[in-house]
Amino acid sequence: MSLYDLKGKDLITTCDWTDEEIEYIFKLAEQIKEKHYSGESFKPLLDKSYAMMFFNNSTRTRHSFETGVTQLGGHAQFVRPDTMRLSIDPVPTGKGESIKDTANVLSRFVDGLGIRLIAESVSEFGMANKIIKEFAEHADIPVINMMSELWHPCQALTDIFTLREKEANESLKKKKMVIHWAYSPHARDWASVQETAALGARNGMDVVVAQPDIYDLVPEAVEAGKKYAEMSGGSYEVTNDLDGALEGADYVYPRNWITLDYFEHGKEKEKEIAKDYKDWRFTKERWEKNTGGKAKLMHCMPIDPNNEADVELIDDPEISILYDEAENRLHVQKAILTALMAGKF
Ligand code: CP
Repeated sequence: MSLYDLKGKDLITTCDWTDEEIEYIFKLAEQIKEKHYSGESFKPLLDKSYAMMFFNNSTRTRHSFETGVTQLGGHAQFVRPDTMRLSIDPVPTGKGESIKDTANVLSRFVDGLGIRLIAESVSEFGMANKIIKEFAEHADIPVINMMSELWHPCQALTDIFTLREKEANESLKKKKMVIHWAYSPHARDWASVQETAALGARNGMDVVVAQPDIYDLVPEAVEAGKKYAEMSGGSYEVTNDLDGALEGADYVYPRNWITLDYFEHGKEKEKEIAKDYKDWRFTKERWEKNTGGKAKLMHCMPIDPNNEADVELIDDPEISILYDEAENRLHVQKAILTALMAGKF
């Protein structure tokens, strides 16, 4: 496989990619990280532009992509879509132009397009991911999902890349990753946990999703995780027993997410429902008693301190790998951008 094979490809979810393509990104990210630390100049995106449409706020995704494109020799254009002519309504109003026209026009200017659009900006289940796919269908340039309500491929690739580093690039097979629903008033999307659970299972991990019964993940994502586990020799289990799930965990990812009824009853009701599950937190006591003081704390960030996890765990560099995951967004996304936008250098 060469870089030419990935040039022009979209990244909506890693579920659309082959194992070989994913492995290629991991290897390239390793090389790019080495170049970064050795100070070797690497500019495959010279004279190329990457447009970034952020319908929603971001710290890590925005700054890692923008910095990454600069380091690769290109230019990243940050745009709030409400400053464009664009309308994402199924029938655009007189004030906006269609996704089709916007995608076609941007394809004439830039070499890649990233989009973040999540649940809070759409009215129906699955609509944000569908809109990003619609851009990809019409654009002649690669489209990167910078997080929809369903999938966050750049986060998941980074999470698994980071775990592989932590295991000294040994296999992740049979390493236990517990992803558990955690209390927070912030009502987060399903994207990060779903994609990381699926990609973890695909890498042979024993993935356990622990959640109160009403917090089922999206069935399509659970099916993907189970299918990958069967193929890789890993496992994908769903349980409502948090303390049992944490037994023997190597990695714990405590994260809030919304119920599947979010679009029926809205964000305020979600916050009310979550209050019944305030004991769903990754505490220092659970870390000591249930994981035997051995598990590492992982998280996509932003983390909600003392809700999702105790601040003592978050602030302990022997336990928390949060900042390493955040940094690796830069290196992994540089690999994605190089592969999809440059193809050769
Ligand atoms: N994890 C992540 O995507 O962070 P941001 O929302 O800050 O981009």
